[in-house]
Amino acid sequence: AKVVKYEWELSYRTISPNGVSKRMALVNNQFPGPTMRASLGDQVQVTLTNNLPDNGTSIHFHGINQLGTPWADGVPAINQCPIPANGGNFTYTFTPDEAGTSFWHSHYGPQYPLGVVGPTIIDDPSEPYKYDDEYVVVVTDHFNISDWTLLAIDRTPGFVGNTGIPPRPPAPDSVLICAGTGGCNTKSQPSFQFTPGKTYRLRIINMSAFVGFHFSIDEHPLQLIGSDFAALDGKTSVEQLPIWPAQRYDVLVQAKTNFTDNVWMRSVTQNACYPIQNPKLELETRALVNYEGVSASKVPSSQPFADPKANDCRDLDLSQIKPREVEDAVETPDTTIFLAVGLYNNATARQIQGVVNNSSYPAYDVNAKPTLFDIKDGVDVAALPTSRNAYALHNGTIRVVLNTTLGPGAHPYHLHGHTFQVLGYLNGTYHGNDGLDLVNPTRRDTMMVPVNATAVFQFKTNNPGVQFFHCHMEFHLNEGLASQFVELPDEIRKLKIPADARNLCPK
Ligand code: C2O
Repeated sequence: AKVVKYEWELSYRTISPNGVSKRMALVNNQFPGPTMRASLGDQVQVTLTNNLPDNGTSIHFHGINQLGTPWADGVPAINQCPIPANGGNFTYTFTPDEAGTSFWHSHYGPQYPLGVVGPTIIDDPSEPYKYDDEYVVVVTDHFNISDWTLLAIDRTPGFVGNTGIPPRPPAPDSVLICAGTGGCNTKSQPSFQFTPGKTYRLRIINMSAFVGFHFSIDEHPLQLIGSDFAALDGKTSVEQLPIWPAQRYDVLVQAKTNFTDNVWMRSVTQNACYPIQNPKLELETRALVNYEGVSASKVPSSQPFADPKANDCRDLDLSQIKPREVEDAVETPDTTIFLAVGLYNNATARQIQGVVNNSSYPAYDVNAKPTLFDIKDGVDVAALPTSRNAYALHNGTIRVVLNTTLGPGAHPYHLHGHTFQVLGYLNGTYHGNDGLDLVNPTRRDTMMVPVNATAVFQFKTNNPGVQFFHCHMEFHLNEGLASQFVELPDEIRKLKIPADARNLCPK
């Protein structure tokens, strides 16, 4: 194990990712930002200097569990105070305990769709797969609105015309495929080079604030070897990969032999999932797969395997993908938590609100004292204001039964601090283990919960800290679709929080 150090600097820059210039907040002037890469067991030290003149910031290393370092999880009001504007800095120090592909992003206000985002790669030296080369492939939506008003659009109380319906989030202006760090800085069609007969690992990351995609490469099946930070057994190949905000897949692609053409890589939005059918959500973007020996200017004539729209609004069949390291689910959990989540039109507030068991999380109260510090300082979980949507988790196996029948919309739900077991999506009500898959179920950290469904997932408490649990559609999070799990509060009280983490908070 080694120490891996990065020096990052955040500032505003105007770039044109889709041909329209936009002021973005960028780390080291790159969009996506620098790749954080380390091996299992390394100690990572990322020092971020915030040179924004007007706003704080924070970085969340999505999927990194932060075992023993919960103050490095990067969520304002949950486990850190923001890094101050005008040169404030903080060093995120942690040791990754799971391998695969992920990303990091700001968890401060709308900074994530403003560009504070980049790839994370954790290598596992004992991994069995062999390949000749690898590419990071970022798929994302993109908004032309360049300032902080992006997330204010659906937060300003009022109705659209005289409809009595509050404003909805804006639709993206473009969708992009980019080749990792710096790959979206300018509007240039990305091109991925294939040499005939070689095997490529693609690390596909959905960095969208809002939309999911069907990803595919014409005439090339994708062999699944990783979902989020869970290594898969590699037995499943797909022609089309549904990928939702914050999800990642690692796939192997076999380049054809004796092939003298180029083909398209495609990313097509899944519009049918959105309650309001917006033609602006019908977006497709392509990148070139350029075979060695073929001119990069040769336009492919390749066709997709099937119409991506035919499977609109569906996630991968989870029973198809099994983790490489077998672990069956505990049949009788120690605690079961029921959460009813959804969006609804609050006529009094004249806003769309996201609620979890009837309580909307007031997102972006970024300067509140973090829950982690409250618990460490002796506050009881039961004494926290109900608006914090906090649930205490004690020792054992926790099962969460999450129901989306409250309102329209499908939600890519993400839990911090764990790669959990996805036991199933039920159409009807929950009856114990009925209809669940307890045999080596898929593990991931972001699951797509369909409209009108019940999702069941499970994990063991082993990570003292405050785990944010929220919809990863940035607008839905901002509308209040979030809660927090205070995991092992008695252990949190024994933690030694470093002075530099405490010192970010106002005195
Ligand atoms: Cu990508 Cu709260 O997470």
